[in-house]
Amino acid sequence: MATHKLLLLPGDGIGPEVMGEVKCLIGWINAQGIARFETEEGLVGGAAYEASKQSITDSTMSQAKAADAVIFGAVGGSKWDSVPYEARPEAGLLRLRKDLGLFANLRPAVCYPALAEASSLKRQVVEGLDIMIVRELTGGVYFGEPKTITDLGNGQKRAIDTQVYDTYEIERIARVAFDLAKKRRNKVTSMEKRNVMKSGVLWNEVVTQVHNREYKDVQLEHQLADSGGMNLVKSPKQFDVIVTDNLFGDMLSDIAAMLTGSLGMLPSASLGEIDAKTKKRKSLFEPVHGSAPDIAGQGLANPIAMIASFAMALRYSFELGALADKVEAAIAAVLAKGMRTADIKSAGTTAVSTSQMGEAILKELQALYG
Ligand SMILES: NC(=O)c1ccc[n+]([C@@H]2O[C@H](COP(=O)([O-])OP(=O)(O)OC[C@H]3O[C@@H](n4cnc5c(N)ncnc54)[C@H](O)[C@@H]3O)[C@@H](O)[C@H]2O)c1
Repeated sequence: MATHKLLLLPGDGIGPEVMGEVKCLIGWINAQGIARFETEEGLVGGAAYEASKQSITDSTMSQAKAADAVIFGAVGGSKWDSVPYEARPEAGLLRLRKDLGLFANLRPAVCYPALAEASSLKRQVVEGLDIMIVRELTGGVYFGEPKTITDLGNGQKRAIDTQVYDTYEIERIARVAFDLAKKRRNKVTSMEKRNVMKSGVLWNEVVTQVHNREYKDVQLEHQLADSGGMNLVKSPKQFDVIVTDNLFGDMLSDIAAMLTGSLGMLPSASLGEIDAKTKKRKSLFEPVHGSAPDIAGQGLANPIAMIASFAMALRYSFELGALADKVEAAIAAVLAKGMRTADIKSAGTTAVSTSQMGEAILKELQALYG
C-alpha cells in the first residue's frame, strides 16, 4: 500500500480546532489499514509569525513542496493587524498558492437535504444541489500588469487593473473542468464576458478548442458571466461544473456557497499542474471560512468544512474516491440525525460541539465500514 505524505497546517483561531477532527479521522483510517498517511505539521499565519516573524518559513515551504498534499486550516486575527504587510497571516497562504503553482480552485456547492431550510432560496430550488465551480486562481485581473493608481495632476487620479490571459492558462483550467465533469454528470458550463471583453473572446475560443480536440464526449455550454450569475440563483441545479476566470470565479463561487447555508460547511481544493515525471500534482485543501476569532477556543466551530476538504484530498490527490464518498455520506447521515453545531442550529435539532460533531461523523464512517 502506498504511503501518502500530508503536511498539516492548522494555522490560527478555529484552524487547530477543526484540524483536530481531521487528525482523528486520519488516525482511524491508518489504524483500519484503509489507506496509509504519514503526517507532518507546520506553522502558518499568525502562529508562524509568533515563532519566526514570518507568515510561513522557507523550511515549511520545503515541507509543503515535498508533501503529496497540504491540508490547511485557517489564518488571521486582529492580533496581527499591525504586523508588516509582507508578514501578515494571509501572506502565508498566498505564498503557498503561488510557490506551489495552484492555478485551479475547486469550490463545490452541495446542499445536504437536512440543511435545505438554511438556504436563502426555496427548498425545491436547492435540495440535492451538487455543483462544482472551477475558478482560475493565478491569472487574470488580480495579477495582470499594469496595476497602478496614477495622479493625473488635475485633482483626478486614474486606477488601472489589467485583465490578461494567455492560451495555456485557459487550456489547463479547461482541462481540469472537463476531467472533473467526466467523473460527475459530464457537463461543463464556461462563463466569461465575450460580449464586452477581449479576454472573454479568447476564453470562449480556447475552451471550445480544447473541447473539440480532447473532450468531445463532455457536454459544453457557454454563458455570459452575468446571466450565469442569475441562473445560479434562479435554477442552480441546471449546472454540473462551471469553469470561469479569477474575478468572475471569486464572485460566482461565493454566490454558489450561500445557496447551501453556512460558511462552516464549505470545503475547497486548489490544484497545480500534473508533474510529467511523477504524474502527481501539487494540491492544497482548505475550508472556505477564515479563523473565526469570535468563536475560537470555545468548541463552537463547525468541523464539516475542514473534514469535507480532507474528503476532497482523498478524491483528488489520492484516488480514494470510495473513501471520500463514505466520509461525505457520514456527514450527511449525522446531519440527517439532527446534530448541529451552533452555526447551523435550527429548531428541533441537537446542539453539539466541534469534537462531538467530529466524533459523530467518525462513528457513522465506522458504521459504513461495518
Ligand atoms: N483562508 C483563510 O485562512 C481565511 C479566509 C477568510 C478570512 N480569513 C481571516 O480570518 C479572520 C476572520 O475573518 P472573518 O470573520 O471575516 O471570516 P470568518 O470566515 O473567519 O468568519 C465569518 C463568520 O462565520 C463564522 N464561521 C466561520 N467559520 C465557521 C465555522 N467553521 N463554524 C462556525 N462558524 C464559523 C464566524 O464565527 C464568523 O461569525 C480574518 O483575520 C480574516 O482575514 C482567513
